[in-house]
Amino acid sequence: MKKTSFVISLFLAFASFSAHADVVSAQKLADKYATFAKHANPSSTGLSASDGKAFYNREITVKGQQVACASCHTANPANAGKHIVTDKPIRPLAPSANPKRFADIDKVEKEFTDHCNDVIGRDCSAQEKGNFITYLLSIK
Ligand code: HEC
Repeated sequence: MKKTSFVISLFLAFASFSAHADVVSAQKLADKYATFAKHANPSSTGLSASDGKAFYNREITVKGQQVACASCHTANPANAGKHIVTDKPIRPLAPSANPKRFADIDKVEKEFTDHCNDVIGRDCSAQEKGNFITYLLSIK
């Protein structure tokens, strides 16, 4: 009995530690984008969760279809998404719901480049990426 509760508390400690660590890495990544954004545009006044939200929900016509980031990632980034073409499930984007998000910068950069090109026809700027992550971090 004692041993079990020790193992459980160890597990919980680890789970909350790793969740915490990943929210921290998402924040670090957002901070990095903020620095790039400032370099690219000295008048940048920092990252904005509300601009990130507008970007996330903004619909753009792609091949005659209205598409937004929200189309696959759903209106609430804490929910599981679904790919609009393949119907494949997508794990939630918000780090609070999915601590694995924004931990691996190479994966994040690749996904941003792919999806930004798919949806807005070019890569997203550092400002847009930073705003996007700031919005996702604001979802509890
Ligand atoms: C057509 C469907 C679709 C659309 C539209 C879409 N995504 Fe995605 N997104 C995916 C899939 C599929 C994955 C990869 C599967 C996964 O990581 O769970 C993903 C993963 C990501 C990731 C990876 C995050 C991480 O750390 O793992 C980012 C960042 C991302 N998308 C950003 C965007 C942005 C920004 C937009 C809007 C410009 C967008 N997506 C629109 C389907 C889509």
